[in-house]
Amino acid sequence: MPVDADVLSAAAVRTRIRKDPGRLRPVPHLLDYEATRAAFRWEDARATLDGLPGGGGLNIAHEAVDRHLLHGRAGKTAIRWIGKDGARRELNFAQLAAETSRFANALQALGLRQGERVFVLMGRLPELYVSVLGALKARCVVTPLFSAFGPEPIATRAEVADARLVVTTPELYQRKLHGLRERLPRLQHVILVGEGEAEGPGVRRWKDLVDPASPVFTIGRTEPQSMALLHFTSGTTGRPKGAVHVHEAVVAHAATGRYALDLHDDDIFWCTADPGWITGTSYGIVAPLVNGVTSVVVEAEFDAQTWYSVLEGERVTVWYTAPTAFRMMMKLGAEALRGYDLSALRFAASVGEPLNPEAVLWGGEAFGLPFHDNWWQTETGGIMIANYAAMDVKPGSMGKPLPGITAAIVRRTPAGGVEVVDTPMTEGELALRTPWPSMMRGYLHEEERYRKCFADGWYLTGDLAQRDEEGYYWFVGRADDVIKSAGHLIGPFEVESALMEHPAVAEAGVIGKPDPVVGEVVKAFVALKPGYEPGEALRRELLGHARKRLGAAVAPKEIDFRANLPRTRSGKIMRRLLKARELGLPEGDLSTLESDEK
Ligand code: PRX
Repeated sequence: MPVDADVLSAAAVRTRIRKDPGRLRPVPHLLDYEATRAAFRWEDARATLDGLPGGGGLNIAHEAVDRHLLHGRAGKTAIRWIGKDGARRELNFAQLAAETSRFANALQALGLRQGERVFVLMGRLPELYVSVLGALKARCVVTPLFSAFGPEPIATRAEVADARLVVTTPELYQRKLHGLRERLPRLQHVILVGEGEAEGPGVRRWKDLVDPASPVFTIGRTEPQSMALLHFTSGTTGRPKGAVHVHEAVVAHAATGRYALDLHDDDIFWCTADPGWITGTSYGIVAPLVNGVTSVVVEAEFDAQTWYSVLEGERVTVWYTAPTAFRMMMKLGAEALRGYDLSALRFAASVGEPLNPEAVLWGGEAFGLPFHDNWWQTETGGIMIANYAAMDVKPGSMGKPLPGITAAIVRRTPAGGVEVVDTPMTEGELALRTPWPSMMRGYLHEEERYRKCFADGWYLTGDLAQRDEEGYYWFVGRADDVIKSAGHLIGPFEVESALMEHPAVAEAGVIGKPDPVVGEVVKAFVALKPGYEPGEALRRELLGHARKRLGAAVAPKEIDFRANLPRTRSGKIMRRLLKARELGLPEGDLSTLESDEK
């Protein structure tokens, strides 16, 4: 019997969410939260996967692609790609298996060995998906990079990862990579997708290298604990951190796809995230495919009308997107939705930043179903806390921990341990009991930074949160200075470093300034070297400099000049104080303040 899962508890919500009993919904995978949690074991989740033939271990690409050929899905659409210009391309599981095998063979022909790093820098083209999965077949380690990154973030990440090969387009190569080749001597191979002028050492064309390669590839023995994906994330200080994920993560991708996104065999799933951010890989590539579900890939960036057309035209049933997108749609109002038939849509979820209660309610009004917030991080590899299809949604809450995941609110103790805070609605740091299959296994080359994330068997998330008496978690804020803009995590240090490269800049401090649509915008405060005068022309020059170095996704949107920046006695810029002053908030504890801007 189909179950109408559209049940909301808060009275205010119940009156405002339009019920749509006509919508057919399959029985949710997670029908009884407590019972499923109690019975859940990761070993059982692992047992739903095939493993490599002949006991050859566990490989993400085999689980996501090849094994479906043995389960009657060869002809089923795996990826339905919609290009910017309206072009379409469908890859069924058999074709995806063949294409990814060609790519794996091409990597082997170039001499790439197990564990070597493959970067993929391009927009959401079919070749991006083929490269990621094909590189996993070849047991290389993949890093998909956001194509809106400028040369600096690309170079830093390629240096940390020791990238050997990049798959990109001629246009991106010329604009971003070409000038970095001397700085990246270990980068030996470049594979270019599509037409266009580009030349350089080791530069080859996809059509010459991958297309003619054999469509048959046997995946070598893959240990579940061997490195598969390297996703970069940012901290308050220092270089971006390469979070190491292993092939075993696919166990969590499969289980969370079922429980948190409620993926069923005949779903049409659309994850709007770019694979350059982990959501776009874990849920834009692996989770739907491993569950044998058809995945829609849209090359174009956000535009409400385009998105509504995709939801309608593709008959999307499950949709995973970001709060910023919801807020942009809210701004346009429900009228913009009029005329679209979105009756196929049965489940909508979002992640990456707080989903305000108003957005949850608006979802009910405009789409006839509530938006389900969920929470996770680059480090957790998969969804950890979620609002489920069959459970009450508390608007503004992130939901409850997934089966197999134990969460808690903790406080760090002076001795370096943690104590669990049991009182409901008490603020503390969100922590997760280790381990789980998609947990990061390290920050590449940064043992100390990795170690600091753990205490007493808990992974400490760096997020502040509360848990209510019914076990729902509520996001409070970050415990550090990282910035969340349009769902993308930005490290202030990376932005400050780029600004400091400009000859006029003596010091720079970067904060996230609250913004009603994108959550936070990146704002920089800059003190100039002697001989430079603040002014509009210099401000524009600095904005342009930062944009060129960092790319539009990371660069500051605002720059203000200051005579000096507030520093602690140990010389650190007090971003917290810059932010408090910007927002007119209390300045807090100033005991460590050494020099000041005033
Ligand atoms: O601060 C939390 C915020 O995003 C951070 C993780 O960012 P990133 O590593 O880029 O992860 C991307 C994959 C989701 C978290 O530490 N965050 C994530 N989800 C939520 C959230 N903040 C509030 N509500 C959420 N649902």
